[in-house]
Amino acid sequence: MEQVRLNKFLSQANVGSRRKCDELVGRGFVEINGKVVRDPWVRVHPGEDTVSFLGQNLTRTHSFTYILLNKPSGYIVSSFDPRGRKTVMDLIGSVKERVFPVGRLDYMTEGLLILTNDGEMSLRLTHPRFGIEKCYHVTVSGRVTREKLGSLITPVEFPDGKRSNVVRAKLVSETKDESKIELVLKEGWKHEVRRICEANGLKVLSLRRVSFGPLTLGNLMTGAFRFLTSREVHSLEKAAGITRKN
Ligand code: URA
Repeated sequence: MEQVRLNKFLSQANVGSRRKCDELVGRGFVEINGKVVRDPWVRVHPGEDTVSFLGQNLTRTHSFTYILLNKPSGYIVSSFDPRGRKTVMDLIGSVKERVFPVGRLDYMTEGLLILTNDGEMSLRLTHPRFGIEKCYHVTVSGRVTREKLGSLITPVEFPDGKRSNVVRAKLVSETKDESKIELVLKEGWKHEVRRICEANGLKVLSLRRVSFGPLTLGNLMTGAFRFLTSREVHSLEKAAGITRKN
């Protein structure tokens, strides 16, 4: 008989990301066969057990939605902002399915953001263990020397214990006053690129994510979104080590 962990079942039923589901279970919002459970790792028999969230019975869905958005600066990556700022959800208002952002981009960062209701995919794409590469174009003031590019890929330990891990760094273009550099990273902690640049004495003028694993922005306009093709979904599954029978 098929068994699946409760947190996986919940994310496949579009309740939220795997981490969010862990939290919701811990808070006692989930019942299996009428009994509250607080362990997100407990096993569920999907065909047999009745799982409910806030009193509503759930069924798993395998037809996930995947969206690629070219985020403009000045939008927050969240479904709600208590300060009333615009959120990325405002940009995908016409999408009926409930999706959530995969990882985050700063308020002022632009570029490639994936939104999905596939919790397992979301977890794998953002967890450092899976090492999915993200590529950023960073415009900084002044010129960036070869030595500086070398020091960008030299790991730096920050006071909060975070450690930089830039896989590749190269110069894309330069003018008299500014340079555009490309940085490839595998992790995704808060303000990572900005902090790495600052630690190397570089003033960031703008930041754009241009690729995420096998996906690139292509010529998608800033502020626009599109659904991933099935070929792109398969390439993401491959990058994230997900095997699904369909
Ligand atoms: N690194 C940052 O500093 N900001 C982002 O938005 C993404 C990566």
